[in-house]
Amino acid sequence: MAKRKDTPEKPKITREKLRSAIRIFRFIRPYRWSFFFGLVLLAAGSVLFMVFPGAATEMAKTARGVSEVPLTLPQWGLFFLILLIIQGLFSFFRVILFAKVSEKGMADVRQALYDKIITQSVPFFENRRVGELTSRITADVEQLQQAFSITLAEFLRQIVVLIVGVAILAYMTPRLALIMLLTFPVIVVLAMVFGRMVQRISRKRQDMLAESNIVVEETLQNHNTVKAFTNELLESNRYNKTIQDVVKISLKYARIRGVFFIFIITVLFGGIFFILWQGAMMVEAGTMDVEDLFSFILYTGIIGSAIAGLGSLYTSLAGAVGATERIQEILESETETSLSNAPLDKADILKGNIEYKNVSFSYPSRKDLPVLNNISFNINAGQKVALVGSSGAGKSTIVQLLLKFYDVDQGAIIVDGKDISSIDLYKLRKNIAIVPQEVILFGGTIRENIRYGKPNATEAEIIEAAKQSNSWEFIESFPDGLETIVGDRGIKLSGGQRQRIAIARAILRNPAILLLDEATSSLDAESEKVVQEALNHLMKNRTSIIIAHRLATIREVDCIYVLEHGKIVEQGTHENLSAIEDGAYSNLAKLQFETQAG
Ligand SMILES: Nc1ncnc2c1ncn2[C@@H]1O[C@H](COP(=O)(O)OP(=O)(O)OP(=O)(O)O)[C@@H](O)[C@H]1O
Ligand SMILES: [Mg+2]
Repeated sequence: MAKRKDTPEKPKITREKLRSAIRIFRFIRPYRWSFFFGLVLLAAGSVLFMVFPGAATEMAKTARGVSEVPLTLPQWGLFFLILLIIQGLFSFFRVILFAKVSEKGMADVRQALYDKIITQSVPFFENRRVGELTSRITADVEQLQQAFSITLAEFLRQIVVLIVGVAILAYMTPRLALIMLLTFPVIVVLAMVFGRMVQRISRKRQDMLAESNIVVEETLQNHNTVKAFTNELLESNRYNKTIQDVVKISLKYARIRGVFFIFIITVLFGGIFFILWQGAMMVEAGTMDVEDLFSFILYTGIIGSAIAGLGSLYTSLAGAVGATERIQEILESETETSLSNAPLDKADILKGNIEYKNVSFSYPSRKDLPVLNNISFNINAGQKVALVGSSGAGKSTIVQLLLKFYDVDQGAIIVDGKDISSIDLYKLRKNIAIVPQEVILFGGTIRENIRYGKPNATEAEIIEAAKQSNSWEFIESFPDGLETIVGDRGIKLSGGQRQRIAIARAILRNPAILLLDEATSSLDAESEKVVQEALNHLMKNRTSIIIAHRLATIREVDCIYVLEHGKIVEQGTHENLSAIEDGAYSNLAKLQFETQAG
């Protein structure tokens, strides 16, 4: 269906990206000493590692009686044993320290990311897919964790090996070292260029994989629709197409990696053997000991593999930098609110006088389509008003503006004499409860879902709310009562039951302003009656805005506004409006009467 909007960027480490990546280190700050000691152990371990070839060479010389080091062969044995034990211990503590840093640091990153995401505005979520956001928290952080626990350490280790190795060689066998230094950098540069190519394909492959996962996610979340339309085959084919694309690019990726290996084997090892050959000639000419050639080969091998490793490590580091950038983009974005659970002060409790003043609005994602056009109305505290009108007229939009899900384009919404744009978002929403058109519950128990309206509600309050919302009867009839699991998004409950749970939740919240986007059309007459009863309970003593689809349910309200194409075309009580011959309201009423009768 919809394509991903963002085009894949080139995986390159630019200065800009690096700067942004470095800022992620603030999450490491609390664990900086562990990180630092880890690095020290790493460096020490790497240097120790470099002692082995040289020591082995000296041992060989000892055997031949030409060594200048005053150690016997048994002493050499002991020396290596101690070296190995120290090396092992260093590695052990390094792994533990890095794990501590990366696990804790990345948990902090995850938490910060989630906090940022959950406090974003509604338009933010409309512009992004859920899968995309979750992969920020899962895949991208995973990549970062990998970088902090393994890649970064390996990268540093290889660099230490490289520097120490070259220094030892330059000291021991300067001529051969010079020959090597003239050949190796060329190979390194070539490897880097190659590495980038490999990375580019890898990135493309990741994107395609994500694309195919979108199909899985969408259809599994919406499995009822797939089944009702018997479109399993269609979806299977759609999935097949995406995974075939993944296979295609994966094979291309494999080919390039294969070529990379050929390159490493021929060019890199070719270089090593060339140097070896040069060394052999020097031994023949008597300018070098055999043992020194032996150790030179060992060091060159180690240096060679370090260089080869650097290439692929660079690729993973570049990947991690990319992931960091995507994470930073969210971490540094503006949120609409901050986390809080403060109860409202007396002064912040609203009375519920609401005024819409010449409000015009279009959705940010569809700026060219005006949805509300110069809407004005007035509701006094405690009054009930209803919005009616055909589908798409803008009823739900009016209600969402009061919640400040979006900012109005023109005009103002005034609550208790104050423009809501100047009222704190948290305090405003705390004063409002909404029973939405389509109730989606959380996957837990009925109790958890009701308590969502007031997280610190007591058991007695929850039961009272369940009773007032006419939910108690069906809750009691379930063997598990309030502990009943409602299933993913609440699918194990009927539409009417879900709605009553939503009403119970609103009752618990006890708000000054109540917004009801009713979907009573989905209920039979009997359930409609119980839901209506529950609603009447809920609306008592509150300012209520009811979006009504059934005109029968709003006979009693103080004022009815009829909307057409984002404009109020009629307003008045049920009696007034019904009296207008050929009026919008009386036509709506007639239409409903006919469909009901027919
Ligand atoms: N999130 C959104 N982004 C862009 N356009 C939207 C969005 N939500 C609604 N619209 C558009 O705004 C218009 C009004 O929608 P709204 O949901 O307010 O209608 P409604 O009166 O509640 O209809 P219904 O009775 O079917 O619930 C419609 O044309 C709709 O397509
Ligand atoms: Mg609606």
